[in-house]
Amino acid sequence: MMLARTMMRRVAAACKKGVRNGTPSTTRTINTQMDDSYPILISPSLVSLDLPDIWPTNSSPNEFRSTCRCSNEQTAAIIDGKSIAGEIMSRIACEVWRMKESIGRVPGLAVIMVGQRRDSQTYVRNKIKACEETGIKSSMTELHGNCKEDEVVNVLSRFNADPSIHGILLQLPLPQHLDEEKILDVMSLEKDVDGFHPLNIGNLAMRGRQPLFIPCTPKGCIELLMRSGVEIMGKKAVVIGRSNIVGLPTSLLLQRHHATVSIVHAFTKNPEQITCEADIVVTAAGVPNLVRGNWLKPGAVVIDVGTNPIEDPSCEFGYRLTGDVCYEEAVRVASAVTPVPGGVGPMTIAMLLSNTLDSAKRAYDFT
Ligand SMILES: NC(=O)c1ccc[n+]([C@@H]2O[C@H](COP(=O)([O-])OP(=O)(O)OC[C@H]3O[C@@H](n4cnc5c(N)ncnc54)[C@H](OP(=O)(O)O)[C@@H]3O)[C@@H](O)[C@H]2O)c1
Repeated sequence: MMLARTMMRRVAAACKKGVRNGTPSTTRTINTQMDDSYPILISPSLVSLDLPDIWPTNSSPNEFRSTCRCSNEQTAAIIDGKSIAGEIMSRIACEVWRMKESIGRVPGLAVIMVGQRRDSQTYVRNKIKACEETGIKSSMTELHGNCKEDEVVNVLSRFNADPSIHGILLQLPLPQHLDEEKILDVMSLEKDVDGFHPLNIGNLAMRGRQPLFIPCTPKGCIELLMRSGVEIMGKKAVVIGRSNIVGLPTSLLLQRHHATVSIVHAFTKNPEQITCEADIVVTAAGVPNLVRGNWLKPGAVVIDVGTNPIEDPSCEFGYRLTGDVCYEEAVRVASAVTPVPGGVGPMTIAMLLSNTLDSAKRAYDFT
C-alpha cells in the first residue's frame, strides 16, 4: 500500500513535469517511433475498422525471395519490448492519476489464481507489481488447487458485481478437474480484460464489429510492430500457432490490419517453406528453437511470443527462458527481432493494464 502511494506520488510529479522514461541502450534497438505529440494511449487503431479499405497493388513476386540465406553478421534491430512497455505503463500511470484527480476513482483489476503453478505465480506476481506501479487497484484471490468449480464461480460472480473492479483476470490454465469453458462463460463481458470471451473473439473476427477487449498478447504483438514502424498492410504474415489465446487472435488482428495471413500449426507440412515467404513472422508454438535462420526471408520482422523454460543449472532457478526462434541465427537474417525475455512478455502486461484502464474509463464515462 505504502509502495503504491509512493509510486503514485512519483507518477503524479512526473505527470505534472511531463517527464518521460529514458531509454538507455547500447545495441541498435527499436523502442518507439513516437514523438512527444503522439498520444500513446490512443494507440494506432489496433482494429483496422478505422483504416480505409484501400488495398495496395500486389507486390511483384520478384520482391520475395524463396531461398533464404544467413550472413555472419547481425543485421537485425532488436525490438525492445521492455522499454516500449515501460513507456506505455508510464502513460497509463499518468492517466490513472488524471482519473483519480478528476473523479476520485482508479481502475481496479481482480486476479484469481487457482492452484500453485510456479509459472502462474510468477506471471501473477508481475501483473500485481505492474498494477502497483501504475496506481491501478489490484485484488488478488488465491484458491486451492483442489477447489470446486462453484468456488471459482462464486469468486468470479463477486467481482462481476463489484463496481470498483473493472477487469477480471482468471489466470490460466486451471487445474484439469475444472471446466475452463464453463467458468469463463460466467465472466462479465464488460470486465473480460483478457479478451477471451467468445463474444470478444467473435467480434474481433467479424468485419464491421468492435470487440470490447483485444487479447493482451496479440494486442502487444501488433503494438510492437506498429510502434517499431513496421508496415503491416499488404504484407505477407505467418503466424505459427493457432491457440485461442495467442495464435488465433493474432492472425485475426493481422488480417484486420490488411496483412495476408498464413497460419502454421502442428500438422502443417513444410512449415519452413511457408514461413520463408513472410515479411512478418509471429511465432507462438511453445517449441524452443523451432524457427531457424533458414526459415526466414532476409529482412523479415520476427515477433517471438514463445516463452519456453530450458534447464540450465547455471541460472538462479535452474532454468532459463528461450523463445521459439533460434535467436542467434535470426538476428543474421531478419531486419528486426524481439528477444526472449524482454520482448512480448512485458507488452502482455502493459496491454492488460491498458485494457483495465479502458474498461474503467468506459464504466465512469471518463474521457
Ligand atoms: N510472452 C507472453 O506474454 C506469452 C503469452 C502467452 C503464451 N506465451 C508463450 O507462447 C507459446 C504458445 O502459447 P499457447 O498458449 O498459444 O500454446 P498452445 O495452446 O500449446 O498452442 C501452441 C500452438 O502451436 C502449434 N504448434 C505446436 N508445435 C508446433 C510445431 N512443431 N510446428 C508448428 N506449430 C506447432 C500448435 O498446433 P496445433 O493447434 O496443431 O496443436 C498450437 O496451435 C508458449 O511458449 C507460451 O509460453 C507467451
